[in-house]
Amino acid sequence: MSICILGIESSCDDTSAAVCKDGQILSNLIANQEVHKAYGGVVPELASRAHEQNIVPVVDQALKRANVALEDLSAVAFTLGPGLLGSLLVGSSFGKAMALSLGIPIITVHHMKAHVLAHFIDDPKPEFPFLCLTVSGGHSQIVLVRGYLDMEVIGKTIDDAAGEAFDKTAKMLGLEYPGGPLVDKYAKEGDPKAFGFARPRVGDLDYSFSGLKTSVLYFLQKQTKGNSNFIQENLHDLCASIQHTIIEILFKSLIRAIDKTGITRVAIAGGVSANSGLRQRLQTLGEERNWQTFIPQFQYCTDNAGMIAISAYHQFLAGDFAEQTVSPKPRFGF
Ligand code: KG4
Ligand code: ZN
Repeated sequence: MSICILGIESSCDDTSAAVCKDGQILSNLIANQEVHKAYGGVVPELASRAHEQNIVPVVDQALKRANVALEDLSAVAFTLGPGLLGSLLVGSSFGKAMALSLGIPIITVHHMKAHVLAHFIDDPKPEFPFLCLTVSGGHSQIVLVRGYLDMEVIGKTIDDAAGEAFDKTAKMLGLEYPGGPLVDKYAKEGDPKAFGFARPRVGDLDYSFSGLKTSVLYFLQKQTKGNSNFIQENLHDLCASIQHTIIEILFKSLIRAIDKTGITRVAIAGGVSANSGLRQRLQTLGEERNWQTFIPQFQYCTDNAGMIAISAYHQFLAGDFAEQTVSPKPRFGF
């Protein structure tokens, strides 16, 4: 009999549903929330309200596109955390109610582990063990992946996440939220060496991005005092230089992790792994240093339920089911 899983993701501001049948993703629907743009960041209360509006049509479409009926489902999976409590509550309440009404089990998924397991949706799939640089709006981690359900964080940010560094510096440049994709777009036409910004001195495999943020802020304050059009006149070079600095910071610790562990299978995951500069740098470094590199498809970089459904598939095989009494974990640790 087939294992058919509905996955639901609602940890932040994207409502997503996907269907996975025997390890194959048959559909992956994502409803983005435009409402936050006007506020320059995600407003938790508005996010949960938008999830409530989106969840039924998104789940419905995911099942239709997969050509899967409710009675074909073997389990319902949803993100348990980490994330915004109100947002998580919508996906988890919906998932639990649906599983209860269908008389099938629930599977709870860790959002950051799911970003890593997005690598098992398409080919080529990495062999174990591998290292995964997981970079999103809330996290920056180097994960040592020993198995589908066996992962260890060996490096992490001590302050801001890489995505936050993109979004917050983008905001200083007057760009809309989320700024990461816009910085990426403008950076393509800029000089990455035009401006130099502070790099952190953190130990070993950890990250820090707050110094970069302050460095960009002071630099812009100084420059705009002399020329109020400085940002408009230099937008492309500013974006390219900021992006270059973030990428260099990310690779410094990642290279240390590769040297330390001797593992040369290297993957990137999470929203920031959609960044074209980061993808290019990984590919170039991989060719130079003989690493085997893994870069996910764009739709599986940013938040998506495909990664939830594929994680749940491996949890299903391992018999890792949850009880109806389970509650969302906004600060779900590894
Ligand atoms: O994984 P994700 O969709 O959500 C979280 O779990 O946080 O990551 C969102 C983050 C945001 O900070 C966004 O600006 C960043 O990923 N991002 C990018 C790009 N696309 C998304 N950052 C840089 N370049 C991109 N192309
Ligand atoms: Zn994410």
